[in-house]
Amino acid sequence: MKTEFEPFRIKMVEPIRLPSAEEREAILQRAGLNLFRVPAADIVIDLLTDSGTGAMSAAQWAAMMRGDESYAGADSFERLREAVREVTGFDEPLPTHQGRASERVLFEVAGGAGRVVPNNAHFDTTRANIERTGARAVDLSIPEAADPTSRHPFKGNMDLAGLDALLAAEGARVPLVFCTITSNAAGGQPVSLENLRAARDVCRRRGVPFFLDACRFAENAWFIREREPGQRGRPVAAIAREQFDAADGAIVSAKKDGLVNIGGLLLVRDDDLRRRAGEVLITTEGYLTYGGLAGRDLDAMAVGLREVLDPDYLRYRIGTAAYVGERLLAAGIQIVEPPGGHAVYVDARRFCPHLPPERFPAQAVVVALYRLAGVRASEVGSAMVGAGGHAPLELVRLAMPRRVYTRAHLDYVIEALVELHARRDAIRGLRVVDAPASLPHFTARYAEVDPEAG
Ligand code: F0G
Repeated sequence: MKTEFEPFRIKMVEPIRLPSAEEREAILQRAGLNLFRVPAADIVIDLLTDSGTGAMSAAQWAAMMRGDESYAGADSFERLREAVREVTGFDEPLPTHQGRASERVLFEVAGGAGRVVPNNAHFDTTRANIERTGARAVDLSIPEAADPTSRHPFKGNMDLAGLDALLAAEGARVPLVFCTITSNAAGGQPVSLENLRAARDVCRRRGVPFFLDACRFAENAWFIREREPGQRGRPVAAIAREQFDAADGAIVSAKKDGLVNIGGLLLVRDDDLRRRAGEVLITTEGYLTYGGLAGRDLDAMAVGLREVLDPDYLRYRIGTAAYVGERLLAAGIQIVEPPGGHAVYVDARRFCPHLPPERFPAQAVVVALYRLAGVRASEVGSAMVGAGGHAPLELVRLAMPRRVYTRAHLDYVIEALVELHARRDAIRGLRVVDAPASLPHFTARYAEVDPEAG
């Protein structure tokens, strides 16, 4: 049989409703043309993020009922520790409430003025958490990552020569090196096992710890299984484990491949660094065995970390973005090729060649897509950079919540984008009305600019 189907059935549903065209216009204006400001009830298909928006399994809901809410040493933590050991090989996980909490705790002990933290491509909260300590965040991706049409199988790979040169130049100013799997900033693109190991070797030679931002570790492992020579058909759990084996530490937002709505992990092999991070955790998140989560959250995470490695799930998961991406390409809409793991990224520069970066072409498409069809996407471009800066690419991200939408929902999104593409000349550019200095895209307000006004 050739038909691909979602490898689950649905036993709990939430209604969704499309507001009328007039309602959508009023909603957009009230939100200052920023979709972060739109109430979720006014969205018909929500592709804002794949983070914390997934559906939990029956097994996860059952596990939540076992949640032990003891302040210290809860059974729930023991079950989480067991799952983390099995999946990652790290012995003493520090739970946190989400990925950016792991980042904040880690950089409070490892960051600081004058320091430099490289990554293949920093996610925006990682960069912000590094920079708030006075350190500098540096991206070292391969050149193919900047070309949306390049079909390099591992566009998330780190620039190894660049890494070696940076470590040679900066020396002790680099407290640790990061590598993000998959690279969200580069379009949900994977990093090969070969590249991870080579980056680890460069770090070893230079005496610097090598850390993973492992939010989407299972999706990355699936891509390795499908694309890397010699890896085809290997158990995906074994590949996932090898990724972690290459690292001295990791931050994990369990809201992605932990298949939970809230939760994170900080994994550190070095006892001294872990102890210092643990002290910050206790002060600002919660005790070492719950880190700001309820016991039931730890149980749901323990189940999710194993469940995510199911090959049927991952085939469907990676197939979802591929389905949307290849159909958009076939309709003449340029995306970041090949389609990523958790999202499809539309190239807004090619979608709206009439809009320069200072008119925020990707945010303009996000607004137009909501206006046409009630679909919420997010901008990864100059609006995200803010402060008059220009992003290397202007992208509209269609992020796929896990186990939430069916193929028919995605067909609706594809139809909306194809229709919008046909009338793209009418999409108007934007200007900033007001925006904060840090992470502007979350709260900024915009206004549309008439073409005559330039
Ligand atoms: N690192 C990466 C690569 C991420 O994609 C995210 C979150 C984080 C760290 C922070 O984790 O949200 O749990 O605090 N990404 C979400 C997104 C928000 O929409 O891409 P968090």
